[in-house]
Amino acid sequence: MNGIQDGVAVVTGGGSGIGRQSSLRFAEEGARVVVADVDEDGGHETTEMIESDGGEATFVRTDVTDSDDVAAMVQTALDEYGGLDFAHNNAGIADEGTRLAEYDEAEWDQMIDVNLKGVWRCLKAEIPEMIERGGGAVVNTSSVAGVSANGSAHYAASKHGVIGLTRRATVDYADDGIRFNAVCPGVIDTPMVQQAGEDNSEELDRITAGIPAGRLGDPREIADTVVWLCSEDASYVMGQPIIVDGGLLAQ
Ligand SMILES: NC(=O)c1ccc[n+]([C@@H]2O[C@H](COP(=O)([O-])OP(=O)(O)OC[C@H]3O[C@@H](n4cnc5c(N)ncnc54)[C@H](O)[C@@H]3O)[C@@H](O)[C@H]2O)c1
Repeated sequence: MNGIQDGVAVVTGGGSGIGRQSSLRFAEEGARVVVADVDEDGGHETTEMIESDGGEATFVRTDVTDSDDVAAMVQTALDEYGGLDFAHNNAGIADEGTRLAEYDEAEWDQMIDVNLKGVWRCLKAEIPEMIERGGGAVVNTSSVAGVSANGSAHYAASKHGVIGLTRRATVDYADDGIRFNAVCPGVIDTPMVQQAGEDNSEELDRITAGIPAGRLGDPREIADTVVWLCSEDASYVMGQPIIVDGGLLAQ
């Protein structure tokens, strides 16, 4: 894809699922990749996969709830590869869900801290370096739960918030040549969903039956969208929640 080759990308949650696939996809297009995750084994596996395909990648243990970790993640891109062009702010958590009034405050705070404030911490560290570089492109992972009532209340609130951040960042930093978009996956076959399927296989079967595509999404299909959004092929796509859901929300 246009403009990805020789760029530098950071991917949070790069040790598994969607983030692993976007890390691989950036590397296939010739970008150098900083893979960031709390999961050290998963993160190293991703960098090994990239290196065995002839790409360049570095793992840095990063908890997106920790500003110092996030600053160190961006610094790794500068130290290892000389700058930062692309970011996929993707690390996130989910839960099996209950009704809004049944969550306690600690559960609410944790969900928002990882899924929403974590994206803000990443943006805060990434944007100054992209300005320094003369521009860049960012994709934040939201969800179909960011544009509908799919998902539990605190998850949906966090993912709606990611779209708000994406829109505001677009308005604030368009003049600096940085594009921001959000990707809104439907139900994607990753460890997050596989775990939910193990907890309640009947519910996952019911959800799958309601997807017009007739199947779960492949994380690769989200990665393709992420890297396209970062490429010059998407040069006029700004501030958008891009839904990739096999038609789930079409009905
Ligand atoms: N799988 C789906 O159906 C689906 C649908 C919509 C949105 N999403 C979103 O996509 C993103 C990726 O999810 P996935 O399905 O690949 O899940 P996953 O569980 O396979 O991967 C998530 C990764 O994020 C990492 N992570 C969690 N907390 C972190 C933290 N505090 N700091 C750094 N890393 C952390 C995990 O270690 C893991 O490697 C999440 O934001 C999720 O909410 C997933």
